[in-house]
Amino acid sequence: MKTKAVYPGTFDPVTNGHIDLIQRGAALFDHLYVAILSNAEKTPLFSVKERVEMLEEAVKRYRKVSVTTFEGLLVDYAEKIGASVIVRGIRAVSDYEYELQMAMMNRRLSSRVETVFLMPAETYSYLSSRLVKEISQLGGSVRGLVPREVERRLRRGNLKKQ
Ligand code: PNS
Repeated sequence: MKTKAVYPGTFDPVTNGHIDLIQRGAALFDHLYVAILSNAEKTPLFSVKERVEMLEEAVKRYRKVSVTTFEGLLVDYAEKIGASVIVRGIRAVSDYEYELQMAMMNRRLSSRVETVFLMPAETYSYLSSRLVKEISQLGGSVRGLVPREVERRLRRGNLKKQ
């Protein structure tokens, strides 16, 4: 049987840490849906459309990966697309508590969907979308931390503000 997995998140914006995880997920499962939460409460820097575009550009060489959006409960979305696995990344022990809480809650909501944690390469263990935005807005370089297209859009956003 083919196993489909969903890798959900905000991806505001996608980082090379996310890409590292996507590669690992795609190597393990038959298909990986990278799913952007579209009704998040927090105010994002990039619109959902922009985040989809950046992710699509970054994963276009991976045949087994597609970029989607979802709203509502993640487990409902996973069941709707026939995914039996939720992929989440754990960078450090500090991520674990929040991730465990979500995984347990998702298990309670649906016993048909299993959460699998993957660790990114050490190089990305301190990387986050939040820090990328902060560094970029303060004029620092994010080269090597995000895909080139993301870097370009962050720079363009900064120029517009000036
Ligand atoms: O990248 P993030 O912001 O840590 O991703 C969080 C995300 C999108 C995975 C989480 O907020 C989520 O699954 N939201 C959908 C609503 C839901 O199912 N809530 C119950 C989770 S226990």
